[in-house]
Amino acid sequence: VAALLLAISGYRPEPWAGALSILRGACDVRVWPDAGDPADIRYALAWKPPHGLLAGFPKLEAIFSLGAGVDALMRDPTLPAVPVVRYVDPDLTGRMREYVALHVLAHHRRMLDYAAQQHSRLWRELPQPAAREVRVGVMGLGVLGQDACVALAMLGFQVAGWSRTPKKVAGVACFAGAEQLAPFLARTDILVCLLPLTPETEGILNMRLFRLLARDGALPAPVVINAGRGGLQNEADILAALKGGVIGAASLDVFAEEPLPDTSPLWGHPRVILTPHNAAWSSPEACARAVVRQIKAHQNGAPLAHVVDRSLSY
Ligand SMILES: NC(=O)c1ccc[n+]([C@@H]2O[C@H](COP(=O)([O-])OP(=O)(O)OC[C@H]3O[C@@H](n4cnc5c(N)ncnc54)[C@H](OP(=O)(O)O)[C@@H]3O)[C@@H](O)[C@H]2O)c1
Repeated sequence: VAALLLAISGYRPEPWAGALSILRGACDVRVWPDAGDPADIRYALAWKPPHGLLAGFPKLEAIFSLGAGVDALMRDPTLPAVPVVRYVDPDLTGRMREYVALHVLAHHRRMLDYAAQQHSRLWRELPQPAAREVRVGVMGLGVLGQDACVALAMLGFQVAGWSRTPKKVAGVACFAGAEQLAPFLARTDILVCLLPLTPETEGILNMRLFRLLARDGALPAPVVINAGRGGLQNEADILAALKGGVIGAASLDVFAEEPLPDTSPLWGHPRVILTPHNAAWSSPEACARAVVRQIKAHQNGAPLAHVVDRSLSY
C-alpha cells in the first residue's frame, strides 16, 4: 500500500487527516512530521511545506497542493521533479464565485458610501447605474476566472476577461497577452484579479496599471478587487491610487505579508474592504475527495488532471 504524506504549515492537520481517512485501504496516511520510512511515501498533500522537505522522499510520484495556487510550492528550489497537482473542485470554485459576486455588487451598489452615511444617520440616495451600464474586467480566465465571469454576466454586468493565451467564453469579451492588457483595462470599471502569482504576474497590480483603468465609467471611480495572491499587488501603489483618486475603492483578500501587519494603513482605510485570505477556503472534505479521486485514477494508470506546467509556474 502506498503512503500519502500530509504536510501542512499554519493549519491544524487533524481535519485533513480525518477527511483523508476515506483513503483507508488504498493509502496509508502519515501526518508530517511522523513520516515513517521516507521510501514508503508515494504521494504528498502539501500546503507551504518547509523548503527541502519533499525532496526527502525518493519514491514520491505526485504532489497535491492543498490550494489552487501553487506559488509557495514553486518557490522551493529543491521541489522534486514529479507532477504538482492544483486543487480544483466545484466546492472551491463556488466559494470564489460568492466572494467575487459579493464584492463586485458591494462596490457597484456603493455599500462603502452607504455604510459611511449610515454612520452619520444620513438618508441620501446616491446615483445608481444598472449592472448593464458597468464594465467588469476579470484578470485570469482559468477555472476560477471563467466561472466568475459567467456569474457576473448573469447578474447583468458587461464582462471581459484577460488571460495569457486567447480564450473563448460565451458572453465574455476575451483579451489575451501583454499587448491586449491596455485595451482590456480601458474598458474596465471594476477590476477583479484572479491571476496566479508567477514571475510574470508579480506586482502587476501597480500604479501604472491602475492609471489605465477606464475614466469614463458609470461609477465615480474605478475599483480594484484582488483575490489572487498578495504578491500580485503593490500595496503602497494601492494606497497612493486611493489617495489620488486613480481608484475609488478596493477589496483585498490577499496581502504581501499575511497576516496583514497591525501597522498596515490598509486596516483602517475607509475605502478598503479587507478579508483574511478566505475568499475561497479549501474545505478538507472537498479537497480530500478530489485527492482521493485522483490517487485512485492514478493507481489505475490514468493521467493526473490539473497538473502544473513547471515552466510557467502555474
Ligand atoms: N484568495 C483565495 O482564497 C484563493 C483561493 C483559490 C485560489 N486563489 C488564487 O486564484 C488563482 C487562480 O486560480 P485558478 O484555479 O483559476 O487558476 P488557473 O485555472 O491556473 O488560471 C489561471 C489564469 O491566469 C492566467 N494567467 C497566468 N499567467 C498569466 C499572465 N502572465 N498574463 C495573463 N494571464 C495569465 C491564465 O492564462 P491561460 O488561460 O492563458 O493559461 C489563466 O487564465 C490561484 O493561482 C490562486 O493564487 C485564491
